[in-house]
Parts: sequence; C-alpha cells; structure tokens
Amino acid sequence: MQLYIDTANLNEIRQAADMGVLDGVTTNPSLVAKEGADFHTRLRDICKIVKGPVSAEVVSLTHDEMIAEAEPLIDIAENIVIKLPCIIEGLKACKTLSDRGIKVNMTLCFQPLQALMVAKAGAFLVSPFVGRVDDVAGDGMQIIQEIRTIYDNYGFTTKILAASIRHPLHMVQAATIGADVATVPFSVIQQMMKHPLTDVGLQKFLADWEKGKSALSKGSAPGSGSSGGKPEPGKKSPKPAMA
Ligand code: E4P
Repeated sequence: MQLYIDTANLNEIRQAADMGVLDGVTTNPSLVAKEGADFHTRLRDICKIVKGPVSAEVVSLTHDEMIAEAEPLIDIAENIVIKLPCIIEGLKACKTLSDRGIKVNMTLCFQPLQALMVAKAGAFLVSPFVGRVDDVAGDGMQIIQEIRTIYDNYGFTTKILAASIRHPLHMVQAATIGADVATVPFSVIQQMMKHPLTDVGLQKFLADWEKGKSALSKGSAPGSGSSGGKPEPGKKSPKPAMA
C-alpha cells in the first residue's frame, strides 16, 4: 500500500518524508489556501522534497479550461499529477490528458460508478472521500470495497486512493480492503506508529536498563544479588553441580 500525505504544508511534508515511507503528496484548493502560498511556487517546492506523485488540482469547470489550467502545472515537474473533479467535464479532460500520457487523479469521488467511468477514461488515480461520506452518516469504506470489486472484476489499473482519511481505523480498513494508496493528514501518519503499550514497554525497558547499569557500577551484576555470592536472607544456597 502506498502512503501519500494530504497537505500543502512543507514542514509536515519534510517530516513525513524523513520517516522514509512517504510515496507521494495530495493537495487541494482548501489545503493550499490554508498555507497562504503561491500555488505554483508551493508545488515546485513540494516536488523538490518528494519524487513520487504530487497531485495538483485545477479549479476550472469546463474541459477546455481544465486543460488550459493543467498545462503550466504539468510543466512544474515530471511527478505532477493533475487532479480533476468527478464531473462529466472532468471525465472528458481525464481522457484527453490520459491519452497524452499525463497522469490524472480524479477527485471528489463519492460513488462507485464515478470510479468505473474514470477508470475507463484512463485515470491514474481515483480518490473516494471516505471521511466526508462518514460525516453524513454514510459508509465511506463500503465505497472503497465496491470500487475494489469493480476494478478487480474488469482488470482496471486505475489505483484506488482512499482519501479524506480521518483516523487510524480508516487506515486499517482501507488496507484490509486493498486500497492501493491512502492519502493521510500528518497527524494520522504520526498516529499510525503509536501504541500506549509501546510507550509503557519502552519506559520499563529503559528503567530496567538504568537499574542494571547502576548495579554494575556498584560492583554487583544484576541478578547476582548484592551479597557477594553469599545466599541472601531467606534464600537457599544453590546445590553443587553433580559430578
Ligand atoms: C484528497 O485528495 C483530499 O485532499 C482530501 O483527502 C480531502 O480530505 P478532507 O475531507 O479531510 O478535506
């Protein structure tokens, strides 16, 4: 399963990249607006950090305008993926760009037939928004499952990118279903390596280690007791080995 980070924040992208397991980045107009950065400059900076797919979304609503808007984005770096909405004009633009060999991520996917259509148009990625479906009392993961079945039935190579991930359980479910990729907020990426028992266990190991070190420095090996070989009160002497 590939792991993308869902952010336009350079600091978060650097920290996730430093973990050594980051495969790509998704941005969207809301995430870019939050950063207050120039869109093209920010994409250029992101592409210097991450060599895997970096999704850049257009905001036009017609085929021709989407293509015109995509052109300068495509020139930013070879790993730019053009992100288009799952509407009919987006579908047409997906076909045009995919036929040219340009990778497309079809976003705002909320039902499996959108995923079927964009796969037929040659999309590189489809982004079903799991969390936003859950937000309105739907079952976002059910859509991922349905798309997985449809793509496997027909051998579509479009990758399912589980998007709008809100928490670690979404990740367990997406990975279990077999989503090819998940795009994840930085906070959830951090949570993916967290377990309270890991922290408790580590603290105990370190405390025991320190105890052992201080026992050694006092001249007695841990486990040998502190009585210089004499049996401790209440303990029997070990039996001599049989000849
Ligand atoms: C995906 O590419 C989108 O940017 C993203 O996952 C949307 O997530 P949200 O529903 O948390 O805004």
